Amino acid sequence: SPLWPGLIEAYRSRLPVTRTTPVVTLHEGATPLVPAPELSRRTGCEVFLKVEGANPTGSFKDRGMTMAITKALEEGARAVICASTGNTSASAAAYAARAGMVCAVLVPQGKIALGKLAQALVHGAKLLQVDGNFDDCLGLASKLSIDYPVSLVNSVNQYRIEGQKTASFEVVDVLGDAPDVHCLPVGNAGNITAYWQGYREYADDGPATHRPRMWGFQAAGAAPIVTGKVVEHPSTIATAIRIGNPASWTKALAARDESGGRIDAVTDREILAAYRLLARTEAVFVEPASAASVAGLLKVAATGELEPGQRVVCTVTGNGLKDPEWAISGAPAPVTIPVDAAAAAAQLGL
Ligand code: F0G
Repeated sequence: SPLWPGLIEAYRSRLPVTRTTPVVTLHEGATPLVPAPELSRRTGCEVFLKVEGANPTGSFKDRGMTMAITKALEEGARAVICASTGNTSASAAAYAARAGMVCAVLVPQGKIALGKLAQALVHGAKLLQVDGNFDDCLGLASKLSIDYPVSLVNSVNQYRIEGQKTASFEVVDVLGDAPDVHCLPVGNAGNITAYWQGYREYADDGPATHRPRMWGFQAAGAAPIVTGKVVEHPSTIATAIRIGNPASWTKALAARDESGGRIDAVTDREILAAYRLLARTEAVFVEPASAASVAGLLKVAATGELEPGQRVVCTVTGNGLKDPEWAISGAPAPVTIPVDAAAAAAQLGL
């Protein structure tokens, strides 16, 4: 089959580009939709994982970033800026490098996973750690983009949403129709907004006959949309979604209500249990925040509120290699042996 051209080429007619738009792509998108037999068994549903960690920088952010950087280049920007819990900065740094643009990133000090920090640095971003949380970083980045010649590539940028909506198109293109339920982790709430936009477009004038119910899940210590109140000091091991005042809050509520869906909280314990289950049984290694979608699905199933026989897609948003700390801390320390088969066999219980 021919080379996958990246999502802008693949979905050109549904994106705000023209023939002369200078497309910046790392050939993102076309991520696997992986059947999840253990989750299907546990829920009585047909469950699939949309594995967004398979994107070029290891998260779904690449879908939005190919559009945001493409449009920034088209508009003549020389520099971009973002606030990030890690993945947005990794993606912005990579796409800006590809476009020959300067990239500035603001991250909460000490609260982003090491792999993501490494990505921003290796791609040459100008990285500042802010003595504050993500919400402080976003406020600062927005202000800088107003007062200085630098464009903001956070998901408040509509081009990010346009790019990210293509994940819904891919799901429908593979399944032949929309699923009954779509589960997502929710942080700043851009992605649930984007998926809902994509599903609506495909149901309005595309191949889908219906729209799914959107189920979003926040970490319990950072669940402003669930409680209806800004969280001043958000706290969760899922650092990617450690956000107390989501920029797309209202749009997430619209996605929930228009789809007849839900936005609930999952505890860190539930997130880590789903994280391990995904790795051990489905063999899909995700970062902790990504497991919130699966933790949420299992939680709802346990209450009996998930009707069996439905088709369910859970987006797992980021690659596990970005944040290996939780994989290592949950496992026994490896044993060292001499170069000796008998010693190896004894340790392996063979
Ligand atoms: N999962 C991962 C792995 C993320 O990195 C994020 C957001 C989300 C889920 C939530 O998506 O914000 O659209 O609701 N990460 C942003 C960042 C905030 O800076 O990388 P959302």
